Amino acid sequence: MALNFIQSFLPLLLVFAFIDAVVSDPDITSDFITPANFSSVNGTFFTFTGFRDLPDPIQGTLMVTKAGLVEFPALDGQSVSMAILKFPPGGINPPHTHPRATELLFSVSGTLEVAFVDTKNILYTKQLEAGDMFVFPKGLAHYQYNRNHQNPAIAISAFGSANAGTVSVPNSVFGTGIDDAILAKAFKTDIATIQKIKSGIAIP
Ligand SMILES: *[C@@H]1O[C@H](CO)[C@@H](O)[C@H](O)[C@H]1NC(C)=O
Ligand SMILES: *[C@@H]1O[C@H](CO)[C@@H](O)[C@H](O)[C@H]1NC(C)=O
Repeated sequence: MALNFIQSFLPLLLVFAFIDAVVSDPDITSDFITPANFSSVNGTFFTFTGFRDLPDPIQGTLMVTKAGLVEFPALDGQSVSMAILKFPPGGINPPHTHPRATELLFSVSGTLEVAFVDTKNILYTKQLEAGDMFVFPKGLAHYQYNRNHQNPAIAISAFGSANAGTVSVPNSVFGTGIDDAILAKAFKTDIATIQKIKSGIAIP
């Protein structure tokens, strides 16, 4: 029985092992990748100007400006990307994961509470001062919070993938149409409570 089970699932396991081996950005066999519609590139192609004069966050919400594969095509194959996070006073970046990258966060100004949870459900947290840097290990759930309700905070995040990906915990659990009854069971609560939580989260 056990052997049969392994035999029938072996092909699937091999596929998973293969996917696991290629989820980090693959090495490229050229210096850089030029998009098909470019006949040649110059220094402009390797320059990202989207971080110039970033406006302040509006209406108390966190402002994230990304420079990833989509915004900055020169990153294709280079295994790095960046984002600038501007937190309003009391602003939060809710729990999320980056499935394809470790994140290095550098605190530029203000004070920021950062935290991640490991696969043993241990919480690691720290209050960062300006000039501090924190590492969020790849794939682990984490958040940032500007506990200061008077002053904004700014951080720069670097990622070990051109396309780190973001999975928001609130949105992926409560914003994707998972059945209320399933969530009520999973969270050991009633359907009304699940619907109340869902009402605050937009389904894309
Ligand atoms: C190539 O295509 C991209 C995406 O459609 C576009 O943004 C870019 O301007 C194009 N570049 C050239 C040189 O045509
Ligand atoms: C560099 O390439 C851009 C188009 O991507 C072009 O607009 C610009 O004139 C080029 N600069 C030089 C110095 O050739």
